[in-house]
Amino acid sequence: MRAGVLGIGRYLPDTVVTNLDLEKKMDTTDEWIRTRTGIEERRIAGDDVNTSDMAYEAALKALEDANVQPEELDMILVATVTPDKPFPSVSSMLQERLGAKKVAAMDLSAACAGFMYGMVTAKQFIENGAYNKVLIIGVEKLSKITNWDDRNTAVLFGDGAGAMVMGPVSGDRGVLSFELGTDGSGGKELYQGPDGIVMNGREVFKFAVRQMGESSINVIEKAGLTKDDVDYLIPHQANIRIMESARQRLDLPDEKMSKTVQKYGNTSSGSIPISIVEDLENGKIKDDDVLVMVGFGGGLSWGAVVLRW
Ligand code: ACO
Repeated sequence: MRAGVLGIGRYLPDTVVTNLDLEKKMDTTDEWIRTRTGIEERRIAGDDVNTSDMAYEAALKALEDANVQPEELDMILVATVTPDKPFPSVSSMLQERLGAKKVAAMDLSAACAGFMYGMVTAKQFIENGAYNKVLIIGVEKLSKITNWDDRNTAVLFGDGAGAMVMGPVSGDRGVLSFELGTDGSGGKELYQGPDGIVMNGREVFKFAVRQMGESSINVIEKAGLTKDDVDYLIPHQANIRIMESARQRLDLPDEKMSKTVQKYGNTSSGSIPISIVEDLENGKIKDDDVLVMVGFGGGLSWGAVVLRW
């Protein structure tokens, strides 16, 4: 028996902020943002919507998609670096708001690799038989820690949430392999300072290109598969150029990679589940497809999962 996906959902704020909107606020251009990052627009949550609100909305959709009641959950995991407050955790807030039983709930901090850490944590509890149904949410309100005076970073990020219910699945489906890693010596390249996000873009770029490629290859091998077996790549949506390098490393054609960065920017831990929902809706992910998901981010940390859908 393997752990697999029972249902998935997402929430994106309604407010769209385009590159042209940013041109009016700071010294940047639509052309620079598009060519350097692939981003065209992003969603920004209003003052009345906090991280837990987005998490809640995405969770409801995932539970409905999985046909699972909140009382059936055994665990709630929330990957976020932008919780409403340091404590209580967003996962504790959700336990009450969803009406779950008094089950295990914790927040995970692994930046843009957070959703991969969440899925792999859930997998352990499910496959050792301890838990049957685990809710995992990747959610960020990055707009509240964005330094709007720093054009190097302000143009990159967006707000949003993706949620997944995982549990035991039958047959060949489920998580086939994973890799998680951290290199704390790179912590100085990407962190939250007093004025918001601070990033050494070039260093993060180099790390991301190297690590996304390596981790993707590693998990394919660990699953006993080859590149030819991969149906679809879902990379963390940070920058189209980084994503393209991972796709080329796997020798995949353009249409076999998820691309939502142009619409939502970098939503950190939200980006992979948000993209999966989009690709299910537009028919790019189909039953039994072998998916490679790979994330990287502050830590510096990374995570990759191979999953048969
Ligand atoms: N508009 C216009 N010009 C800009 C902007 C902007 N928004 N931002 C920077 N520039 C300028 C710089 O000042 C620089 O000017 P200079 O040469 O006169 O000094 C010039 O553009 C070029 O800057 P580069 O650093 O060479 O640009 P690069 O091609 O590296 O792209 C980028 C920058 C997009 C940030 C890239 O390095 C990148 O994507 N890095 C990885 C970022 C990432 O993936 N972060 C993940 C975060 S994950 C998490 O955990 C939250």
